Formats: sequence, structure tokens, C-alpha cells
Amino acid sequence: MRILFAASEALPYAKTGGLADVVEALPRALVKLGHEVAVFLPKYRGVKSTSVVMPSLTIPQGTRLRFPAITNGAVLRGVRYFFLEDPFYFDRDGIYGDKNREFPDNAERFTEFSRATIEMAKHIWTPDIFHCHDWQTAMVPALLRSSYADDPVVKDIPVVFTIHNIGYHGVFSPESLARAGIPQGLFHPGGIEFFGNANFLKGGLIYSDYLTTVSRKYAQEIQTPEFGFGLDGVIRSRASRLVGILNGVDYSAWSPERDTLIPAKFSAKNLEGKKVCKEKLAEEFHLLLDHPNRPVIGIVSRFADQKGFDLIAAIAPDLMHEDALLAVLGTGDRRYEELFRALAIDFPGRVGVKIAYDNALAHLVEAGSDMFLMPSRYEPCGLNQIYSLRYGTVPIVRATGGLDDTIEMFDLEHGTGSGFKFSEYSGDALLHVIRRALHYYSEEGIWKRIQMNGMAKDFSWNTSAAEYAKLYEAARAARNQSTVPASN
Ligand code: ADP
Ligand code: GLC
Repeated sequence: MRILFAASEALPYAKTGGLADVVEALPRALVKLGHEVAVFLPKYRGVKSTSVVMPSLTIPQGTRLRFPAITNGAVLRGVRYFFLEDPFYFDRDGIYGDKNREFPDNAERFTEFSRATIEMAKHIWTPDIFHCHDWQTAMVPALLRSSYADDPVVKDIPVVFTIHNIGYHGVFSPESLARAGIPQGLFHPGGIEFFGNANFLKGGLIYSDYLTTVSRKYAQEIQTPEFGFGLDGVIRSRASRLVGILNGVDYSAWSPERDTLIPAKFSAKNLEGKKVCKEKLAEEFHLLLDHPNRPVIGIVSRFADQKGFDLIAAIAPDLMHEDALLAVLGTGDRRYEELFRALAIDFPGRVGVKIAYDNALAHLVEAGSDMFLMPSRYEPCGLNQIYSLRYGTVPIVRATGGLDDTIEMFDLEHGTGSGFKFSEYSGDALLHVIRRALHYYSEEGIWKRIQMNGMAKDFSWNTSAAEYAKLYEAARAARNQSTVPASN
């Protein structure tokens, strides 16, 4: 099968979060299964292309035409990369916005990208299936089923749409639709209209053949008002076409045996190197490791409300009474940057904070910490807790979405489980579970057991990629059926 991925981020070119990891690793895994995969991305600042494929596409926007180019990227591990080159829109200091704000023309930028995805499929690389991701590519299905509904080349190509996070909608004023070149006919309550505005994600949910999200639990959760961000009704109406497929992990990048970014390698058989990583981590984060057994709790995260940092703020003073250190790496919401900066000032040597986006440091936190904290309010999948397992870094997570699906609560009686979970979204519940983890940490034999249980887990992409391949087939079959005239 030929599969065309369209996404706003993918490693090794552009990343703000887990989407980029997934759009790198899943295509590779599909290639291994024998499929042909191309990935289409905007050419952001700093991205290099090798040659021009089409020097000028014609993209209507309002009363104007735009003429971006399509350029070639490399072929990496069998995956072909193409870029949309439009410096006015994409050669900027940031992907979605700069330090101060979201870019005001995101509707135009990502509609152009979506339209170019379809044009690329027409003229350059015709796929059997489109696989789109999040609101930035949601206009692919919306335009395919409207403006392109009579196009003989693309009209029957099915779309699988993955929801990585239903909290991000891409909401724009009705006026921006015309500016972006989206047909007015889509602007109604059964289409992309949402409380008077245009909601791109809603378009993806309605016009795609199949929807997926990144864990089974999250597929259930987004059907409820608590987790649906106002779109739970739309999701429920499409429940028969929604599948939860857990993200995998690229162990060639994230395993302590092979990691080239950490000061010492280690494995389940020999954990010695982990101590070296811990010392280095303490040094980098200015943590007082006055005895080597003092546990370090690590955090690597976008600083966003989703991630549960208000709980950490609530329990920080109590947590500091425990014999534990905190190493935090992250950027994002200023409120949380200030929160962690303040904690580092109030508890010098106990809390170490780096306000940065730094992949090498992320690897060091994974490798050098004893525990990894993810108290998310909601979490579609979450990758860091899965990385942690492989590094013998025991996850402490809230039982939501992918965190609940990937982490099993440690059970002393049976010696089973890979981490610690709490359910109620409260500081007390979080503090309780952290204390429990710290208690077991002090018992070496038990702790080793929990580490080994986690290190033995396998969340590689093979199984999930095969599930996607099956779904692509189902989407093709469903679309073929729906094009058979009723009279036949
Ligand atoms: P989300 O996509 O919601 O941010 P995930 O857990 O799925 O959460 O993925 C986050 C990814 O981004 C991981 O690969 C993680 O290592 C990386 N990451 C997050 N924050 C940072 C940071 N400050 N520096 C380096 N990598 C980061
Ligand atoms: C989103 C989610 C995260 C998920 C990632 C990749 O950013 O917040 O939970 O792991 O997408 O699917």
C-alpha cells in the first residue's frame, strides 16, 4: 500500500512534542512491513531540501492565488520526505507561533498546507490512503469531500485521521475561512462550524473515513464531556469509526543499551551505568546527591495545563519534607516556568530546573532519575513514561489515557507491575502515591523487581503499525463500498 502522511511536525525536521516522534517512527515501521510511505511537511526555518519537485503549485486563497513549491527531502530508512516550501508562511522563528503569540495567519498557513497535500497526491505521489494528524491537516479530508469531490484522481482516496490531542482545535473566525480559501459550504453545524467559529479539528472528525487516537483508554475518554473539550458529541456520532491504537516507541533512540546521548550505557543485566548517569544528572541540575541512594524524581515535559503541574505546586512543600530530589526539564506556559524557577530558588540543591527544550538533557533525565513523574490531568498516550520503563526509571502517573494503558500498578503480593498510579486528580492522591513509591525505593530488592518488570516491557511499533495497516485496508474497503451507486 502507498500511504501519504501529512503532519505539522516530524523528526528529524521539526518537533514540539510527541507528534513528531510518532510521525517519524510509524512510517518507518510501516516500511518495514512492506508498505511505501511518504511524509509531507512544511519546510520550516532551517530545514534543508535536496531538489525542487514542482516549482509552482497554484493554491487559491480568497481572491488571491499563491504559488508555493514542493521540494524533495531525503529518503530516510526507506521513508520518502517532501516539503511544502513557502517562505512567507513557514520560514519563521517558530512552528505555530513565536515567543509572544500564536501566528495570526495559522488558518491560512495550514489550509495552504492541506490543499498542497491534495495537490501533491494528484501530481507527484498518488497514495492509496492519506494519513492526517491533528487540526493542522484536518482540511485535507474537508477539502477532499467538498472542493475535490469530483476530482477523478483523488476523490476516492480514503483518509485516516489521528487525534493526538483533542484539546487543540484550531479555532478561527468565520472571516478567516474566506481568507484561507475554505468553501463557505462547509460552514454549518454539521460541518466545521462550532459556536459561531470555524473549528478545523471538527472538520477532520467529520470528513475522515476513520478516526484513530493514540490509546484505547483515550478513545473511550474523548466520548465523554469530561475529556471531549466540547467535541465529545461529534466523537460519539462517529464512534463506530474510531479506533484507539497505542503509540509505540523507537527503541533505537530510546534504550539505555544504545543511547549515545548519555554518559554511560546500561541494561537490565547491569545497571551500573545508571549510577553514572544519576551523578551526571545531579551535577547538571545542581542537585545535592549527598548520599547516592537519595532518590531523584525526573520530569520532562511541555509546560501545559494538561500535564498536571498544579498538583505539583500544591504538594511541593510536603514533598520537600521527603528525602527526594526533583529534576525538571521543560518549557511552555510562563506560569509553570515561574513555578519551577521559584521552587528551585526556595529549595536549592533539592529542586533542579532547566527551562529549555533540549533532547540530550531529556535523555539524561530519563537515564539518571530513579522515578519519572507524569501526573497529567489528561494524556492521550504519553511517550516519556514508556521511555522511562526501558531506562529502569519507575513511572509515577495519573491513571488516565495512555498512562493508564501503559503503566501497571506495582503489586507487592504478586511482584507484578511496572510503576505507581493514582486516580483522583488531587494533591493528596499524588502525594500519597509518591510516598508509597519512596517507601518501596528504600527496599532495594523490591525496587529492583519493579525496575526489571518495566525494563522487560516491549512497546515497539511492530504491533501498532500492523494495526494501522489493517485499518487502512478497512478504510479502503469502506470507501469502495460507499462509492457503489445505491441502485447496484
Ligand atoms: P506531548 O506530545 O503531549 O508533549 P509526549 O509524552 O507524547 O507528550 O511527548 C513528548 C515528547 O517531547 C517526548 O519525546 C519528550 O522527550 C519531548 N520533550 C518534551 N519536553 C521536552 C524538553 N523540554 N526538552 C526535550 N524534549 C522534550
Ligand atoms: C500528543 C499527546 C501525547 C501523545 C502525543 C503523540 O501531543 O499530548 O499524549 O503521546 O500526542 O501521539
